[in-house]
Amino acid sequence: MVFESYTEMCNKAADIVAEQITLKSHSVLGLPTGLTPVKMYEILIEKNKNGEIDFSDVKTFNLDEYYPVSPIDKHSYRYFMNETFFKKINIKMENTCILNGQAEDAEKECDMYQKLIEKSGGIDLLILGIGRNGHIGFNEPDEYLLSYTHKTRLLQETIEVNSKLFDDVSEVPEYALTMGIGTIMQAKRIILLASGKSKYKALRELMAGKITTLNPSTLLNVHPCVTVLCDRDAYEGGKEK
Ligand code: PGA
Repeated sequence: MVFESYTEMCNKAADIVAEQITLKSHSVLGLPTGLTPVKMYEILIEKNKNGEIDFSDVKTFNLDEYYPVSPIDKHSYRYFMNETFFKKINIKMENTCILNGQAEDAEKECDMYQKLIEKSGGIDLLILGIGRNGHIGFNEPDEYLLSYTHKTRLLQETIEVNSKLFDDVSEVPEYALTMGIGTIMQAKRIILLASGKSKYKALRELMAGKITTLNPSTLLNVHPCVTVLCDRDAYEGGKEK
């Protein structure tokens, strides 16, 4: 679905989240970080304040986290989620799950996270952003992609794009922990959000219906229930967000 503005796109995403929670109060949500979902989180906070959504039984799993990073580091995705969203809604903090970026044993942490998602009954609704190189979560373009939650090395292009939130590019962690493609594919419903001209190429490839690991988002073409929400700039390659 194409929207004239970023805000309209985020309104629709928030409506879908609200419908999901209304239908099932114990919903399990998969959540993204990044700039794209920020407005959606703001709208959800408003909906929670005015009594439209109750997050008290909702459980969340974030897609990814830098590695290594402390959860109290302001660059961590745990910090981002707490400050942008979780502290502002009536969710129970213990129901918000994010990979531990300072786990000593990354493999064990990923394994535990994967099992925790499965034990929670799987993700009902997963919201995804998309990287300009087509990454989803931190599943970067590669010859091979991994199915389960794993530690990954970030591509230089991702480090550079993400450095806008750091003082210097050298501060961006080289690694991350991320849900794998299989973990993402097991979500019952997926919404992908794309905003701004920089996402045009990756989005075009996804919408062309061909599948390549060199644009991980294209694997979503085999998922039975994906909704792509984008603004006109992402759809037509217009102006930068
Ligand atoms: P962005 O990040 O929302 O900040 O563009 C998306 C992503 O890299 O997945």
